[in-house]
Amino acid sequence: MILKQRFVKPLTVALCLTAAAVTSSLAQAATFRVAVGDGAGSAQHALGLKFAEEFKAKTGGKHDTKLFLNGQLGDEQATVNDASMGLLDFSILAINNVTPFSPTVGVLTLPYMMQSLDDAVKLTQGEVGKELTENTIRDAGVRIVGWTYTGFRVLTNSKHPVNSLQDLQDLKIRVPQNEIMIDTYRAWGINPTPMAWSETFTGLQLGVVDGQDNPYLTIYSMKFDEVQKYITDIRYLFSIEPLVVSEAVYQSQPADVQQAILEAGKAATEHSAKWLVEQEDKIKAELTSKGMEITTPADGEKEWMDKAVEQVWPKYYEQLGGKEKLNEILTSLGRDTI
Ligand code: MLT
Repeated sequence: MILKQRFVKPLTVALCLTAAAVTSSLAQAATFRVAVGDGAGSAQHALGLKFAEEFKAKTGGKHDTKLFLNGQLGDEQATVNDASMGLLDFSILAINNVTPFSPTVGVLTLPYMMQSLDDAVKLTQGEVGKELTENTIRDAGVRIVGWTYTGFRVLTNSKHPVNSLQDLQDLKIRVPQNEIMIDTYRAWGINPTPMAWSETFTGLQLGVVDGQDNPYLTIYSMKFDEVQKYITDIRYLFSIEPLVVSEAVYQSQPADVQQAILEAGKAATEHSAKWLVEQEDKIKAELTSKGMEITTPADGEKEWMDKAVEQVWPKYYEQLGGKEKLNEILTSLGRDTI
């Protein structure tokens, strides 16, 4: 496991280190800090704003939240550690940056598992989502209370159009520090470069890497059009970006505040799905008007999918709860079993 060792066992440490959170939660009126990995105008931001509005309303204006955008409170993976120790209240981050701390969440990063927004909603808001939330509390000391739906991660690069896996072979591609995503690019024939999200823009700008993948909404809000020219519209990963609350902070709250957190998270989740549908096409057009060129794989993505599913899935059956578990999930999505 690439990053598992970095993780400090959550709840035991949390009890000793919750000074900041406990102070804020016991005070009459508290302002909770929310780390947001992406910038203004992103899907993460939209979810955070809706959560903040609903949470304030549901606590009768007593409690507030403050969003810290663009990774100001640390890299996304670092915010999981901080929240697990009670040093941070909330974080909104890509699911791929939670997986290193709670392996079963990897089912949401498995290439070609989710093939639509509907699939993403079904998985996150149904039994699978509930189970992943429990696992994440146990493994990582954070509770998922909301889900951002950001759309499929598309491939961008600064060098040339990519219409086939052949075109990918001379490119240096950044991936998150996530084993499943690293293995997916290996299945596609290249050795990608794992890099923290907070370093990605600079990495692209300086040419340390030529490309990366992220949803249209993220590419736009992070201004990647300034350092990337070509987009390949692939659909291997539907991006899910949960809102997590430190379990230590959550448990230190009275029942009515806990309830307000859960209800505000639910309302923000519903808002996120609608927001994606409203925004994605507009953003795609904006990126084109800013000079980005969008192509789709010439083979309809067949080779990409075949290679990823054949080479990556079997390696993760055990980590994700076994083949049977994956078959249950596939069946719930109305798909053929493996
Ligand atoms: C990543 O690529 O590390 C994430 O998708 C970044 C994000 O949170 O948007």
